[in-house]
Amino acid sequence: MDILQKCRPWTAEHLLVTGRDCYFRAVGDTFDGTEADFQGRRVIVAASHDYLGLSAEPRVREAAVAAVRRFGTSLGGSRAVSGSLELHEELERGLAAFLGHEAAVVLPSGYQANLMLTPLLGDGDMVFSDFSNHVSLEDAVRLGRAKERKFLHGDLGHLEELLVVADGSGTENTGGKLILTDGVFSVDGDVCDLPGLMKLADAHGARVVVDSSHDLGVLGPTGAGAGEHFGLRPDLVTGALSKSLASVGGVIAGPADVIRYLRFHARAALFTAAASPANVAAALASLRILRAEPERRVRVLDLAERLHNGLRALGFDTGASVTPVVPVLVSGRERCLRVWRRLFDAGVFAAPMVHPVVRAGREVLRVTLTAAHTDDQLERVLAAFEHVGRVEGVIPGSAPAAHTPVRIARPRGPLATAR
Ligand SMILES: Cc1ncc(COP(=O)(O)O)c(C=O)c1O
Repeated sequence: MDILQKCRPWTAEHLLVTGRDCYFRAVGDTFDGTEADFQGRRVIVAASHDYLGLSAEPRVREAAVAAVRRFGTSLGGSRAVSGSLELHEELERGLAAFLGHEAAVVLPSGYQANLMLTPLLGDGDMVFSDFSNHVSLEDAVRLGRAKERKFLHGDLGHLEELLVVADGSGTENTGGKLILTDGVFSVDGDVCDLPGLMKLADAHGARVVVDSSHDLGVLGPTGAGAGEHFGLRPDLVTGALSKSLASVGGVIAGPADVIRYLRFHARAALFTAAASPANVAAALASLRILRAEPERRVRVLDLAERLHNGLRALGFDTGASVTPVVPVLVSGRERCLRVWRRLFDAGVFAAPMVHPVVRAGREVLRVTLTAAHTDDQLERVLAAFEHVGRVEGVIPGSAPAAHTPVRIARPRGPLATAR
């Protein structure tokens, strides 16, 4: 049989009929961070993770342009050989300090930042992963040789059971233990129970890695993410630069000796080209703004709270999220994709999450607004959801008498500015 045969049924008609034509839609040239033209239709973009609205910020754009003028468009090689700039090192020092760690490595993507963990996962080691972790954490484990045990999403009781079994004599755990979790989960928008995870880690001699892609810039008094939110420092932190830092790239931060080891052992860093000068410069500029302008964090959290509660007041279910990742439950694959299309026609671009990203029956439209969205855009998103939700029967014909409001994950203390 021809190995390419499996691709043949995926015709343009098949994509249309199965609703998959909603993916890979190209944006026209008028993208300003909050609205875009998609094939001639002007829509509010409610699907971007540019949480602080920095990708359209002139200081960030100018930094990227200046880096291209100075260093060119590509470094033409791996960081290990010809691709290291002092600019990379400056960003690494900045991110390490920001995340409260000794050292960091910057990678071309957040996906690769998680693959950096693979050299830690040798024979005899064991990994304990939350079921809802990002796929790049899963892939880091797949590429390693450690045995993996998955615990039910956020279920510390289950994790403890698995750790106790691993501690028993005669198990496969002859090496170390690593607990992997997202800080803010990328589909459900809930925050990991970091204090609980670190307590269990302490009790069982495990280390903890937090993927802070969605909490960096959003949670904590200075925006340093889930660790800072809880006043804790996980052993290693990974993150994507494509969200609050308005760039493309990734970072892993931790103790200096661990980071040095990973630099020399992780294939995800050694055998790939260096992050481009423009991306590094954009992330550096964003990091400076993020630290100096906490009002952006206030804005994105305020908008998120109003979005959650506006949707809930209409009768929508936004699950356990307490963050700007707002998952609107629209169960049923066909219905979820239909609602997506009606919203698009009504001028709102959300992100449809269907199986295999979520369990069948738990389909969601993920809605994210950034600090750059206006109050008017928020109201228009809510009006579109109200209209489409009623037409599709996702919400009742009239608003429910009461709803449980969401209290967004704001910092416990005052917001801090770090210059
Ligand atoms: C939690 C999480 N980790 C890692 C990544 C990967 O980041 P990148 O898109 O930069 O490869 C993402 C992005 O989708 C993410 O949501």
